[in-house]
Amino acid sequence: MPTVLGISGSARRNSYNAALLRLISELAPEDCPVEMTSIQGIPLYDGDLEASEGIPPIVAALKDRVAAASGLLLVTPEYNNSVPGPFKNAIDWLSRPAADIPRVFGGLALALAGATPGPGGTRLAQTAWLPVLRVLGTCPFFGRNLSVANASKVFDTDGRVIDENVRDQARQFIAAFAEFIRR
Ligand code: FNR
Repeated sequence: MPTVLGISGSARRNSYNAALLRLISELAPEDCPVEMTSIQGIPLYDGDLEASEGIPPIVAALKDRVAAASGLLLVTPEYNNSVPGPFKNAIDWLSRPAADIPRVFGGLALALAGATPGPGGTRLAQTAWLPVLRVLGTCPFFGRNLSVANASKVFDTDGRVIDENVRDQARQFIAAFAEFIRR
């Protein structure tokens, strides 16, 4: 059965992006489940650390999960109209060593989604990810857009969705991504 690995690009306890990933996972088709993880615990990239100790175990384990997945879903916050540094740092670690990029990312179906309390829905961050997806050799999914604006009105304080439009968008988004993976 195909599986999607979803990574929330926020380490925050009450992250809207973690809430969005949870929603997507709950709505995923039964024959294409979405596993959830986050960037929590990924160290800051340091070339000296890599040279002396190699790839940190938490990074090596995440690399293997990405490589084993049929699709990768990046659920991204937006920082200063671009990719959040901590999430980019995690993906940069996953791209090490460079010789391993084809195993981990090559031809991998990849979808972007994101949530923000602001009005822009993370569209600028999602666009800013595109050169990264290209250089890693992924196969991006552009069939549906899932950009959640005004997130404080979309999720309650427990991170449960209270906006039925967003629930429908999330359901359609993950159904279309699952279809894209199966093609
Ligand atoms: C933000 N935030 C933000 N939001 C947005 O829509 N566009 C932006 O450019 C920015 N810029 C920005 C910069 C920095 C440094 C921070 C810390 C935050 C707000 C951001 O969307 C908000 O903090 C979200 O709650 C972050 O996502 P999580 O942690 O809730 O998943």
